[in-house]
Amino acid sequence: MKIKNICCIGAGYVGGPTMAVIAQKCPEINVTVVDINEKRIAAWNDKDVENIPIYEPGLSEVVAEARDRNLFFSTDVDAAIDKADLIFISVNTPTKTYGMGKGMAADLKFIELCARQIARVAKDDKIIVEKSTLPVRTAEALKNILENTGNGVNFQILSNPEFLAEGTAVKDLMKPDRVLIGGDINSEEGKEAVQALVDIYNHWVPKENILTTNVWSSELSKLTANAFLAQRVSSINAMSELCEKTGADVNEVAKAVGMDSRIGAKFLKSSVGFGGSCFQKDILNLVYIAKSFGLNEVADYWEQVIIMNDHQKKRFAANIVKTLFNTVSGKKISFLGWAFKKDTNDTRESAAIYVADYLLNEQADIVIYDPKVTKEQIYADLNYLGTRSEKENRSRVTVLNDPYKVCEDAHAIAVLTEWDEFEHLDWKKIYDNMLKPAFLFDGRRLLKKEEKKEIGFEFYAIGN
Ligand code: UDX
Ligand code: ADP
Repeated sequence: MKIKNICCIGAGYVGGPTMAVIAQKCPEINVTVVDINEKRIAAWNDKDVENIPIYEPGLSEVVAEARDRNLFFSTDVDAAIDKADLIFISVNTPTKTYGMGKGMAADLKFIELCARQIARVAKDDKIIVEKSTLPVRTAEALKNILENTGNGVNFQILSNPEFLAEGTAVKDLMKPDRVLIGGDINSEEGKEAVQALVDIYNHWVPKENILTTNVWSSELSKLTANAFLAQRVSSINAMSELCEKTGADVNEVAKAVGMDSRIGAKFLKSSVGFGGSCFQKDILNLVYIAKSFGLNEVADYWEQVIIMNDHQKKRFAANIVKTLFNTVSGKKISFLGWAFKKDTNDTRESAAIYVADYLLNEQADIVIYDPKVTKEQIYADLNYLGTRSEKENRSRVTVLNDPYKVCEDAHAIAVLTEWDEFEHLDWKKIYDNMLKPAFLFDGRRLLKKEEKKEIGFEFYAIGN
């Protein structure tokens, strides 16, 4: 089976970059990315590719090459579904905020709406690919909806979880460690569908890096991979607190531990806490699934990764209050960084949000600079918490696009995201324009301690 037309429902952080790379690597296939968000699609179609809605190093160039050649962005979801041989579902699956499984289970309403729309529109056989991270056995639910409400056409459901990390999405897509494809490998039709997707990736990914499994293994592998990665961060963050008490340095510990080839050096960077749209959501998902099967010990084991992460964010904020003589009321605290990691404008679950919320509860005034996050996004993140009124958030939080202005007359500075440019700021100038003692809290182990101390800063870094 040769795929000629691909549709991707959802033009977000996963769908957008993934389809851009597929289109670039497969010029003979038409790729249409659709979304109900008109503003987002308009931004993807902006004449100036620097204005696409997602900031990812290298992405604008890929879009510039493929857009209007074989890569299209549209709000006409029905037309794209109708035309496609293969449909990626890449819509958001946030944690439920209501009802059964509230705060834990994934909200599948967007997925279900997609399935119903596909069933209504499709007039010929199609391959449906789950791209969003989903709880195990979602494919089965999809199949059920498609088969019972469709126009009598055949659907093959595949699971093809995305492993890209934001900030390095293009690099990860171009050279993935592996591509995972789950399908019904016991039937001829299932095998054919899997092969069709393998053929797409094989345009640029070597065969030995394309793994095929059954659907459920594929779905569970994605959750497991994210849980393991998050667990490493929580493990090193747990050690960071012990380091601060004992005089050890968490970076030295991480290096010594990571040189053991059985452990490996990656994902051992202590921080103010992991964020992003995946880690917390996927672990909560795992916990919910385990609990629903009565596997309480399994659920508790993974839940601890989240508990540790929440503790890390809280203890970073509490340390600021304690160090500033037990009160930050009316004091100006400057934030460098708001995104959940560098090189992305994504702020979902960013540690900065929770640190800000804690300090606002202590009546601090917060001034923020992030090179890629918009002012409106920062207010939206704080308003979403519902801790205080929108008016109060606006009056206590200021967002500026000049890091020096942000730090002027501050009682303390907190580094929340590891943007490279923060390392190269004129720290002497910042020091000179701050209130004294000049407190500097590094939540990312980004800055050089001795240098900052020499300038005169009272310097605190996670795990040191
Ligand atoms: C993650 C997975 O890495 C990716 O494979 C999956 O597809 C989606 O979820 P992402 O959330 O985009 O990707 O970024 P990642 O690089 O994993 O970072 C997640 C969070 O952990 C960030 O807040 C980051 O700052 C933090 N982190 C990461 C650390 O604090 N220390 C580390 O050593 C690594
Ligand atoms: P992710 O990080 O998983 O890509 P995003 O929230 O960035 O998540 O993107 C998901 C996109 O899916 C959003 O732009 C949203 O508007 C879109 N979306 C959600 N439901 C539908 C739907 N039924 N049809 C089309 N697009 C949808």
